[in-house]
Amino acid sequence: MSAWTKHQVLEKHSILLLLAILFVVAIGGLVEIAPLFYLKSTIEKVEGIRPYSPLELAGRNIYIREGCYNCHSQQVRPLRDEVERYGHYSLAAESMYDHPFQWGSKRTGPDLARVGGKYSDEWQRDHLRNPRALVPGSVMPGYPFLFKRELTVTDITAHMKTLQLIGVPYTDEQIADAESDLTAQTRPDDSGAAAALQARYPKAVVRDFDGDSTRVSEGDALIAYLQMLGTLVDFKLYDNKANLR
Ligand code: HEC
Repeated sequence: MSAWTKHQVLEKHSILLLLAILFVVAIGGLVEIAPLFYLKSTIEKVEGIRPYSPLELAGRNIYIREGCYNCHSQQVRPLRDEVERYGHYSLAAESMYDHPFQWGSKRTGPDLARVGGKYSDEWQRDHLRNPRALVPGSVMPGYPFLFKRELTVTDITAHMKTLQLIGVPYTDEQIADAESDLTAQTRPDDSGAAAALQARYPKAVVRDFDGDSTRVSEGDALIAYLQMLGTLVDFKLYDNKANLR
């Protein structure tokens, strides 16, 4: 059989041709994608990135539960208008411990990747209770129940263990102290516990986020999470204007 007649076999059998196309495309895909799973250099190391503290992690779970990602992205693209509005564009390492990541694909509201420290805890609390009290015309729903519900703390250890299993570098000590660390982050008067927490989780903000010191509410956790977003990396170390389009 000449090369031409061999090729005729493919051209005359559409299913065979389809399988051959899939085979060839799969090789291309493998060559491009497979190395990314093995290359350590895929994610550039960035100073300051650490796993979430237990309270931040609990807040993140509430963020996911309430579907905040349906309206908010957490990904600043390297475009000049985004960088001028939100701050330094997102680095891959910033979401390296996120399971699942919260990059999002919808911006009904602003991007939240750099919202930490932008507003006071009181602002965040009042805004979450009733966005229109602070931003007239806002279409964001209110979440007043978050401040009435006590946070369930008992599942945080299991969650951290699971994250450890899939590669988030929580130490066994961090997991053992999860429940006490969680409450310590809302008790600024207990400076010993706060210092221990901050040694385990550098830059963790210790405050009574919801303004009610008698208990830890779901609102405490969510605000702790919002207030740390984008605050871990010192972006002065990284060149802001390079790579902008
Ligand atoms: C229906 C869409 C929608 C949902 C769902 C939603 N938001 Fe919003 N959000 C908005 C819009 C629109 C704004 C801008 C107006 C405002 O500030 O209220 C906003 C603003 C914000 C801001 C202020 C951002 C800034 O930089 O000024 C924060 C923080 C925020 N939302 C957090 C949340 C959290 C946390 C949740 C989930 C509990 C949530 N949002 C759910 C639409 C939404």
